[in-house]
Amino acid sequence: MNVRKVTLALLSGLAGAQNACGTAGVNCGEAEALQTGIAQQWSGFGTPVKLGTWSRPQRCPPETDFGRLEDLLPQKHFRGPLSGPASYFKRVPPHYLGHHANFSKCERSVYIDVGAREFDSKEGMLSTFAVYPQLLGFDEFYAFEAASGFYKLPPQPDLVRRLQRQGMSAARAASFARRHFFLQAFIGARSNPSTTPPTLGFSDLLKTMLGLQPADAVVVKMDVEGYEYDIVRTLLADGTHALIDEILLEVHYGHPAMMRRFNWCRMPKPGWQFWCSYSLQNATAMYRALRDAGVYAHHWP
Ligand SMILES: *[C@@H]1O[C@H](CO)[C@@H](O)[C@H](O)[C@H]1NC(C)=O
Ligand SMILES: *[C@@H]1O[C@H](CO)[C@@H](O)[C@H](O)[C@H]1NC(C)=O
Repeated sequence: MNVRKVTLALLSGLAGAQNACGTAGVNCGEAEALQTGIAQQWSGFGTPVKLGTWSRPQRCPPETDFGRLEDLLPQKHFRGPLSGPASYFKRVPPHYLGHHANFSKCERSVYIDVGAREFDSKEGMLSTFAVYPQLLGFDEFYAFEAASGFYKLPPQPDLVRRLQRQGMSAARAASFARRHFFLQAFIGARSNPSTTPPTLGFSDLLKTMLGLQPADAVVVKMDVEGYEYDIVRTLLADGTHALIDEILLEVHYGHPAMMRRFNWCRMPKPGWQFWCSYSLQNATAMYRALRDAGVYAHHWP
């Protein structure tokens, strides 16, 4: 590896998809201290879904068959290879819900990308369409990214061309930009306007801002640099997980291979990478808790 490659590897390991606390323009306040508290409490509890509290409680899509989920991958620390025959992209996408459930029967179909980085990066929305073509038929797209300067849609003619290249119909591609919303914000467990940029609580976002119901199809991709434990715990505790049909969730913890490859959990700054206090068991418990509560949960990527 030459110096440039090492630097790039370091940067890609450190630059989070959101919540890059300490980088220019990003102030996470007391988030690290709060998260360390959560890290000490995580036990993966779940609340059974109380459908009676929703105005459109009929779950959609109804076909969700948990027997079709892939096995979790704790033996590889949820980070298998990203290329080659055992690649994530060969192993997991065939298990995505869209392969056996029909989203188009639901009232709204909503795709939410949290920690969106760049629209056309390797893990961005456009690339996700390539591995999950059923999302091309969705009605609404929401992208959140805390760091400025990463996320923007290409100019309309280029955008339409690229969406069509992924297989989106001409009519849907033409209206995509109007069905797509981007906000520079942190996503956390609870809303907090005092951070920079402000933090939107994920439960509040789903329930109050987007007004979602179990009758809507909701697919989430989330990469929130350790905040996933707090967010998932809150979703499970307040029952908002009933709104999420499927989640592609990146997990962070004191991961031995990532420590070696990307210097995870070796930053000199105290409080940085609070998620180093989570273990493989905690990560596994989080995915299990989601699945046990009826959320079709995959690791990513
Ligand atoms: C994380 O997992 C470890 C090992 O299973 C467990 O002892 C600890 O309580 C868990 N931490 C939290 C915060 O649940
Ligand atoms: C999904 O449902 C729609 C609306 O009922 C129907 O037109 C379409 O053929 C279905 N798609 C599949 C793949 O079954």
